[in-house]
Amino acid sequence: ATKFDFMVVSNRLPVDRISDDNGHGNDGWRRSPGGLVTALAPMMTKSDGAWVGWHGAPDETVRPFSHEGMDLIPVQLSSDDVELFYEGFSNATIWPLYHDVIAPPEFHRTWWDSYRKVNKKFADAVARHAAQDATVWVQDYQLQLVPRLLREARPDLKIGFFNHIPFPPPEIFAQLPWRREIIDGLLGADLLGFQRPSDAGNFMRSARRFLGASVKQQQVHVKGPDGEVTHIARAQAFPISIDVDQIRELAARPDIIERAQQIRKDLGNPKTILLGVDRLDYTKGIRHRLKAFEELLADGHIKVEDATLIQVASPSRERVEQYRLLREEIEGTVGHINGTYDTIQNTAVRYLHHSYPVEEMVAMYLAADVMLVTALRDGMNLVAKEYVTARSEDDGALVLSEFAGAADQLKQALLINPHDIDGLKSTILRAINLSPKEARRRMKLMRKQILDHDVDHWSAEFLAALEEKVVRDDS
Ligand code: G6P
Repeated sequence: ATKFDFMVVSNRLPVDRISDDNGHGNDGWRRSPGGLVTALAPMMTKSDGAWVGWHGAPDETVRPFSHEGMDLIPVQLSSDDVELFYEGFSNATIWPLYHDVIAPPEFHRTWWDSYRKVNKKFADAVARHAAQDATVWVQDYQLQLVPRLLREARPDLKIGFFNHIPFPPPEIFAQLPWRREIIDGLLGADLLGFQRPSDAGNFMRSARRFLGASVKQQQVHVKGPDGEVTHIARAQAFPISIDVDQIRELAARPDIIERAQQIRKDLGNPKTILLGVDRLDYTKGIRHRLKAFEELLADGHIKVEDATLIQVASPSRERVEQYRLLREEIEGTVGHINGTYDTIQNTAVRYLHHSYPVEEMVAMYLAADVMLVTALRDGMNLVAKEYVTARSEDDGALVLSEFAGAADQLKQALLINPHDIDGLKSTILRAINLSPKEARRRMKLMRKQILDHDVDHWSAEFLAALEEKVVRDDS
């Protein structure tokens, strides 16, 4: 088999199948949207790189193939794997547990068994294809056991791991029956990246508490049975970002600017367009946002003739029960609000349960006066960064939850606690009425921050840190 010097592993491959495809050949795939693949594609094509991941079709075998110069190595998942590993342990155990138990996590031994088995599948695929001394970068919470499994199979490899979602405080992580195994799995890496310093801190406290590791600054010393240090892993924050150039170029395209104007017209030219863009997920605080908006309508602070909220809720994990329940609840609430406040001419909430190409998203960012990001917990939230990047005129207002990682970088946003509905309401009003001068001051500073820190910067920083030699600090 071909061997690769640089390998990325993630649950999903960075390609989506084009729907009318018959399942064979390169023509049936399209590169997925998103910054991660943009940041890593140059390394994939330049160096001898490959990407290992699931191709998205249960029970289907797809041979390794190459797409736009990237070598892709598909991992097969059975429908059982999808149900137990993906929908179960990844998205109904770890996801809610790591997002502050907003929904109750479920603990099932059969899910855990499947998680172990599938992580082994991914690790085996990497071990088979990695060249001697290769660098491997493992992505996200679905694959937390891969670092350890890989280190056992291939001690020659340099192993990095990046957690895209929050890492919970040990008091919450403690609930997980397999907490030791997860920490140990992660500690197979040389470098562990997190979104926020607090996530890295939470991880290190858990390593100490549940595995008895000693932690010095950003180093976790893993000990063997006799107390000797067998491995040192580093844990650090590397806040992820977006493909800034792509969003800026789209925001400057005449057809997209025109489309933004059309969106305003189609909504009847309201004074204010508010916008929410999320995967339909209970971590995003969509309910809290709708509640605040409804109360503002009820109080008479907002009139349906003056303001419309566009809420894009892209379909996500629809076979997981909590997501089904959330959809029913949100759609009930939207129906209630619109039934109460709509007129023949005007709508309060334009709710869209679709996903859109990035061009249409940028047109919406350009059309929106106020962007609402009200997540109850979010690793980063790239929508906030995209909105700011698209606002090339330095106008518009961003209302941003302090519980999103992006709040660390976007300090000039109007920061809110989404649980505080009164605070959220007054901040939405403040955003609507922000003076152009104040809006400009804030947006300028936020744009500078993001323009200086795009996703290439993120991956370069992580990979440079991964190459650094560990200086052992035994003081
Ligand atoms: C989050 C996770 C990703 C995941 C994405 C979409 O951003 O951090 O790992 O791929 O959601 O979710 P899905 O379950 O459809 O892959």
